[in-house]
Amino acid sequence: MAMPSFSLALVPLLSLSSACTEQEKTFLLHFLTGLSQDGGLAASWQNGTDCCTWEGITCNENRDVTEVYLASRGLEGHVSPSLGSLKGMLRLNLSINSLSGSLPLEVISSTNIVSLDISFNHLSGELQELPSSIPRLPLQVFNISSNLFTGLFPKTTWGKSRNLVALNASNNRFIGWMPSSFCISAPSFTVLDLSNNQFSGHVPSGLGNCSALKVLKAEYNNINGTLPDELFDATSLEYLSLSNNQLEGTLDDAHINKLRNLIFLNLAMTGLSGKIPESIGQLKRLEELHLEHNNMSGELPRSLRKCTSLTTINLRRNKFQGELANVNFSALSNLRTLDLYSNNFTGTIPESIYSCSNLTVLRLSVNKFHGQLSKRIGNLKSLAYISLTHNNFTNITNALHILKSSRNIKALLIGVNFRHEVMPQDENMYGFENLQVLGIHNCTLSGKLPIWLSKLTQLKMLLLSNNRLTGPIPSWINTLHSLFYVDISNNTLTGEIPTALMNMPMLQKEKAYWDMKYFELGALALLDLSFNNLSGEIPHSTGNLNKAHGS
Ligand SMILES: *[C@@H]1O[C@H](CO)[C@@H](O)[C@H](O)[C@H]1NC(C)=O
Ligand SMILES: *[C@@H]1O[C@H](CO)[C@@H](O)[C@H](O)[C@H]1NC(C)=O
Ligand SMILES: *[C@@H]1O[C@H](CO)[C@@H](O)[C@H](O)[C@H]1NC(C)=O
Ligand SMILES: *[C@@H]1O[C@H](CO)[C@@H](O)[C@H](O)[C@H]1NC(C)=O
Ligand SMILES: *[C@@H]1O[C@H](CO)[C@@H](O)[C@H](O)[C@H]1NC(C)=O
Ligand SMILES: *[C@@H]1O[C@H](CO)[C@@H](O)[C@H](O)[C@H]1NC(C)=O
Ligand SMILES: *[C@@H]1O[C@H](CO)[C@@H](O)[C@H](O)[C@H]1NC(C)=O
Ligand SMILES: *[C@@H]1O[C@H](CO)[C@@H](O)[C@H](O)[C@H]1NC(C)=O
Ligand SMILES: *[C@@H]1O[C@H](CO)[C@@H](O)[C@H](O)[C@H]1NC(C)=O
Ligand SMILES: *[C@@H]1O[C@H](CO)[C@@H](O)[C@H](O)[C@H]1NC(C)=O
Ligand SMILES: *[C@@H]1O[C@H](CO)[C@@H](O)[C@H](O)[C@H]1NC(C)=O
Ligand SMILES: *[C@@H]1O[C@H](CO)[C@@H](O)[C@H](O)[C@H]1NC(C)=O
Repeated sequence: MAMPSFSLALVPLLSLSSACTEQEKTFLLHFLTGLSQDGGLAASWQNGTDCCTWEGITCNENRDVTEVYLASRGLEGHVSPSLGSLKGMLRLNLSINSLSGSLPLEVISSTNIVSLDISFNHLSGELQELPSSIPRLPLQVFNISSNLFTGLFPKTTWGKSRNLVALNASNNRFIGWMPSSFCISAPSFTVLDLSNNQFSGHVPSGLGNCSALKVLKAEYNNINGTLPDELFDATSLEYLSLSNNQLEGTLDDAHINKLRNLIFLNLAMTGLSGKIPESIGQLKRLEELHLEHNNMSGELPRSLRKCTSLTTINLRRNKFQGELANVNFSALSNLRTLDLYSNNFTGTIPESIYSCSNLTVLRLSVNKFHGQLSKRIGNLKSLAYISLTHNNFTNITNALHILKSSRNIKALLIGVNFRHEVMPQDENMYGFENLQVLGIHNCTLSGKLPIWLSKLTQLKMLLLSNNRLTGPIPSWINTLHSLFYVDISNNTLTGEIPTALMNMPMLQKEKAYWDMKYFELGALALLDLSFNNLSGEIPHSTGNLNKAHGS
């Protein structure tokens, strides 16, 4: 049997030129001349030397420049049109610099460039339409995001880009309709990011023809109207975000289930109404569902239990109603965040939630839940942020005893519940080792400031306002070294204000700011003891207009 011979391929090609051409060198030096700040390039880019050896330049075996890679070089100045003349250049990466001026048409219309990344610069002006003399572009990746481009997005250019795979035009100032004609000409078009612009008009139905489209992001624009039925024909979609636009209409039961590949769906802050369709249960890969700040209503579909990949369900600020127990959460073992803040849910916390052992954020505040907490909440070992504020839960003694042994809890907000109950005074309330925020405000609780508070050494924020607490402010308060936000206003506390309180280090720092993103809860340092019967001097009861609401 004859063995294949490789010896021929090892013979060096004698036709190799030894250096890049003078012409290529000239094009690159033009670019250098256009820079007002070259990040030290000039030291390497010397006319007397082979430009294939210059920093950031890659050549092929014919000594043609194939790549200019000058990302994050601190470059300032203009992008020279001469770069478009480098006949063999496939990749141009000038991202993360401070280049300004326009993006020359010569560069976009290069008949070689496959990948053009000029993201994170200060380029401005309008992108022009390509002249009709240019038949087609090899461009696959076009990243112009995070610049200052304005005007309408060129339309005809994309008809010439049959190989386009990814276009990122996010974080600019484009206006007019979203471009949508890519997919007609570019069958492999996969990523479209138009977020953070001023695109308006409807979501174009042409996007439905994008059979390979996986990522569609157009959040933070002025897009209006209903979602076109055709959009749901883009069945490869994995990531769909149109949040923060002015859409209307509902999610159609017969459409959403076509997007079987969806992993991430964000239609928050769009104005959508109606129910979550039952067919959502067919989205088996769905990990994140964001529908917050809409006008959506009705009961949650029972089928939600089938979306077993879900890690995040955010439905806050809608008009959802009904018993949450309609949904069996026990199969949602990946769930980490459940945010139902400000809806109209009723009933008790469903027992099935206590099977979601990775649950980290549980926010049920401002609803109509009632009942006592179940011991099984202790199964949620990862629980770190829990807010039950503004419901009708009862038996605070029970609630605190159950939660105290959940070691990971950082924030516990349970105010506006437990009406007219008594603050538990139990000295044995050990636990809450990591608690940083405790909110038990607006409960009309009676009793004293309990001694167990003195054990919460990590506590940063304490909200106990609008209760009926009596007795003095105990002097142990100064053992809580991390405390910087204290609101015990509107109680019936008596006695002298302990001087120890005033000297607490954190309260000295008025500017201390602390942010708990999960609960949209941020606060500056505060000490509010107003509306009590205390005597003594309050040096500076920090007047803070931005009081934390704790929900
Ligand atoms: C580079 O050197 C060549 C030959 O010495 C010369 O003709 C050319 O003008 C130089 N280019 C620049 C930009 O200095
Ligand atoms: C351009 O360079 C940056 C920084 O190295 C990199 O993150 C980016 O992926 C590159 N762009 C392309 C299209 O490869
Ligand atoms: C620009 O976008 C392309 C395509 O999505 C991507 O490969 C590249 O990493 C992005 N560049 C930067 C600097 O993120
Ligand atoms: C587009 O670019 C921005 C940065 O400007 C980046 O944050 C975003 O992830 C990119 N989009 C995609 C889909 O890669
Ligand atoms: C949608 O936006 C377009 C363009 O701004 C505008 O002409 C049209 O009136 C808007 N339609 C609705 C229903 O608001
Ligand atoms: C786009 O898809 C629709 C069907 O959704 C089809 O009627 C139309 O012809 C397609 N357009 C092009 C240009 O392929
Ligand atoms: C909550 O439900 C009640 C009836 O149970 C209804 O009267 C009320 O309007 C609903 N509130 C909201 C905000 O949907
Ligand atoms: C919980 O999270 C851990 C760590 O991320 C992971 O290994 C585990 O599989 C998750 N458990 C479930 C039930 O999803
Ligand atoms: C709260 O629950 C109690 C019984 O546990 C009931 O008497 C009361 O009416 C409820 N309050 C509200 C506002 O629903
Ligand atoms: C409240 O909870 C405590 C501790 O779990 C329990 O002993 C008590 O019976 C409960 N009170 C009511 C009224 O259910
Ligand atoms: C708590 O009570 C105060 C005084 O009645 C009120 O202004 C505030 O809105 C209440 N906060 C909540 C979260 O209900
Ligand atoms: C003090 O709290 C009570 C409820 O306990 C409330 O009715 C009242 O409006 C509050 N006063 C102030 C000044 O917030």
